[in-house]
Amino acid sequence: MGWLEGQAVLVTGAGSGLGRAIVDRFVAEGARVLAFDRSAEKLTAVKAEHAAAVEVVAGDVRSPHDNQHAVETAVEAFGRLDTFIGNAGLWDFNGSLLDTPADRLDQGFDELFGVNVKGYLLGAKAAAPALRESGGSVVLTLSNAAFFPAGGGPLYVASKHAGVGLVRQLAYELAPEVRVNAVAPGGMDTDLRGPESLGLATTRIGQAFPINDVMRQASALHIAPGAEDYVGAYVLLAAKAQSSTITGAVIDASGFGTPARPATPGA
Ligand SMILES: NC(=O)c1ccc[n+]([C@@H]2O[C@H](COP(=O)([O-])OP(=O)(O)OC[C@H]3O[C@@H](n4cnc5c(N)ncnc54)[C@H](O)[C@@H]3O)[C@@H](O)[C@H]2O)c1
Repeated sequence: MGWLEGQAVLVTGAGSGLGRAIVDRFVAEGARVLAFDRSAEKLTAVKAEHAAAVEVVAGDVRSPHDNQHAVETAVEAFGRLDTFIGNAGLWDFNGSLLDTPADRLDQGFDELFGVNVKGYLLGAKAAAPALRESGGSVVLTLSNAAFFPAGGGPLYVASKHAGVGLVRQLAYELAPEVRVNAVAPGGMDTDLRGPESLGLATTRIGQAFPINDVMRQASALHIAPGAEDYVGAYVLLAAKAQSSTITGAVIDASGFGTPARPATPGA
């Protein structure tokens, strides 16, 4: 029997990368999943793979209406909602303060914070009543950039640090009915894009940045994980029987929590 047998879960950014890996693993653990993404094309592929275990909603996490619609669709289809996973995100491709023109910082901030921070806030707002009823939980995707500099530029790093604030405040506000936690993955070669306002909407992370090489060289474990390697922490936090005492926590799954040792001992 899986760790999530009978649970109903909503995942944002579920069309590719980490969100898609969460959907696949959660279904394997016995959950039914509402996959929410702005890409209808990606959602068609998710639905084709999982049939009845997965419902899909296309929409924008920056919209209160779209978040509400996703939650209502989940509750209608599954009769309940046990976990909301805020995961849709944008990266800033390391754009720096000094090299980014002020008007681009202005627009880039609104777009990136709109997805990475407001999207989580609005998703939690829409899901809270159903989660309080089920005694459920919120799990947010953060990053090594939630703890350390240089996992992006100031826009991305600040947005992921803001996510830690959301975890702490929402864990406080939604207790004792709802647990609120996060997972901070490290790099992975996904379909991660950047803000349109910074001209980064058509570039994938791996096209512009040697993410797997960086992970192999600079992370403590010298591995380049795939999205599926990070999802165990989400299963743990969503599984009531396994983590009923955990709230307000961020699991650092990034591999950057301790400095990297040289690949060759003694070098
Ligand atoms: N890839 C990495 O190296 C890395 C590292 C640490 C953390 N993360 C975090 O992981 C999360 C998932 O990213 P990923 O790497 O799997 O990228 P991804 O692009 O493969 O997945 C993100 C999904 O979010 C969707 N999305 C983007 N904006 C949206 C919006 N406004 N409304 C609805 N859906 C939207 C995209 O269509 C995409 O399917 C993000 O929060 C990201 O910050 C990624």
